Amino acid sequence: MTFDTRAFRNALGSFPTGVAVITTSASAEHHLGITVNSFTSVSLEPPLVLWCMDKKSDRYQAFTKATSYTVSILGTEHQEVSSRLAKQGSHSLDGIALAPTALGPPSLQDAHAVFECEAEAVHDAGDHAILIGRVVRFSRHEENAPLVYYRGRYGSLSQG
Ligand SMILES: Cc1cc2nc3c(=O)[nH]c(=O)nc-3n(C[C@H](O)[C@H](O)[C@H](O)COP(=O)(O)O)c2cc1C
Repeated sequence: MTFDTRAFRNALGSFPTGVAVITTSASAEHHLGITVNSFTSVSLEPPLVLWCMDKKSDRYQAFTKATSYTVSILGTEHQEVSSRLAKQGSHSLDGIALAPTALGPPSLQDAHAVFECEAEAVHDAGDHAILIGRVVRFSRHEENAPLVYYRGRYGSLSQG
């Protein structure tokens, strides 16, 4: 049986998700970020989260070798930042409103929630790697509406 990868990808897009930006620090002054929707919770005790990274990404080495990273859950006002950090080769956080973290990699200012993570494990998984992070600090700022991604488009939650 032939497997239609494009159709598979489109079917996976039927799962509505939130959107996060993961940041890590290449040096004290140089930080980089990537837009992901594969973020999910894993464990409460110990506190673990995961996200998946495409092996083809030119950010692959930087993130899989990182000792720490920060997950910022995006609000609807972050849509432009999300699109920018999803562009191929566009890793720089220059000009993006950031907030410092105790761990190092900055969070996005006014993120819906922030999880500061120490790298726990990297698991090989086909054309992606699964990155497990141990959450050492977190915060919530939920005044804004979360950004949603569904079938290749951004949206927001309609409050019932
Ligand atoms: C909404 C959205 C979610 C994404 N989620 C992921 C993801 O979970 N993992 C991943 O590796 N790339 C994800 N991407 C793609 C990356 O953001 C980026 O486009 C890709 O890494 C290619 O750029 P690069 O080669 O410069 O890293 C996502 C893109 C968008 C727009």
